[in-house]
Amino acid sequence: MQASADEALILDAWQANAQAWEQAVREGRIESRKLVTDQAIVDAVLAHTPRTVIDVGCGEGWLARALAAAGVKVIGVDVVPALIESASSKSGGDFRVLSYEDMATGALAERADVVVCNFSLLGRESVDGLLAAMPELLEPNGTLIIQTLHPLLAAEPYVDGWREGSWVGCGTGFSQAAPWYFRTLGSWVSALERAGLSLRCIKEPIHPHTGRPASVIFMAGSNQGNGDEQASRRSISRHRT
Ligand SMILES: C[S@@+](CC[C@H](N)C(=O)[O-])C[C@H]1O[C@@H](n2cnc3c(N)ncnc32)[C@H](O)[C@@H]1O
Repeated sequence: MQASADEALILDAWQANAQAWEQAVREGRIESRKLVTDQAIVDAVLAHTPRTVIDVGCGEGWLARALAAAGVKVIGVDVVPALIESASSKSGGDFRVLSYEDMATGALAERADVVVCNFSLLGRESVDGLLAAMPELLEPNGTLIIQTLHPLLAAEPYVDGWREGSWVGCGTGFSQAAPWYFRTLGSWVSALERAGLSLRCIKEPIHPHTGRPASVIFMAGSNQGNGDEQASRRSISRHRT
């Protein structure tokens, strides 16, 4: 099946390029991150004054470290063991090797005030499955925050579909690029709704040099609201039984 083959290629590419990615982030090679999107996601998360955060697809852990430095208790998860090792060695925080498929089947037993996905929702079925599990990962009144490529910047046509990836702008040392699944703005909103989440806010951080959006940030909450007693009994520091 084509879609599953693409999902597998995403995982292969991140396994193969973990070291190059770590270097690109460490050296601040990606201009839009340095100028706009890093601060935008830190601000978006901290604006919710979370006590606890789950950083999904955390990579080498820069965001988890920034949030921990602000006093937030963070769990970082990623499918690539080398990235999780790197994240753990830099901060000794709570980092775990888990795929979105694992999380969709309840492998992460904690909840958090904010679940953040910074440029880490790349696939189709893997992302839909993860989103469906989100009400189980958010505390009552918790917030899911997703930063992703702004649909304005993606190649035409403006319809959902798999696109070829590229490492342009990330520097050297990369091998095969991962495909990624493009979603229109409307399709992102539908995906959130299908997962039992309500969109609360969209932000479009602007690139100071181009005047165009550098990304889009979605903030959504669980439709369960605060009537979910089961949820209120669990927290990031307690495991489900
Ligand atoms: C563009 S990087 C972003 C990393 C980090 N959030 C950051 O801001 O630097 C995408 C990350 O998503 C992770 N990822 C992609 N698909 C995944 C999956 N199915 N399960 C777990 N992690 C995944 C990759 O391993 C990679 O670390």
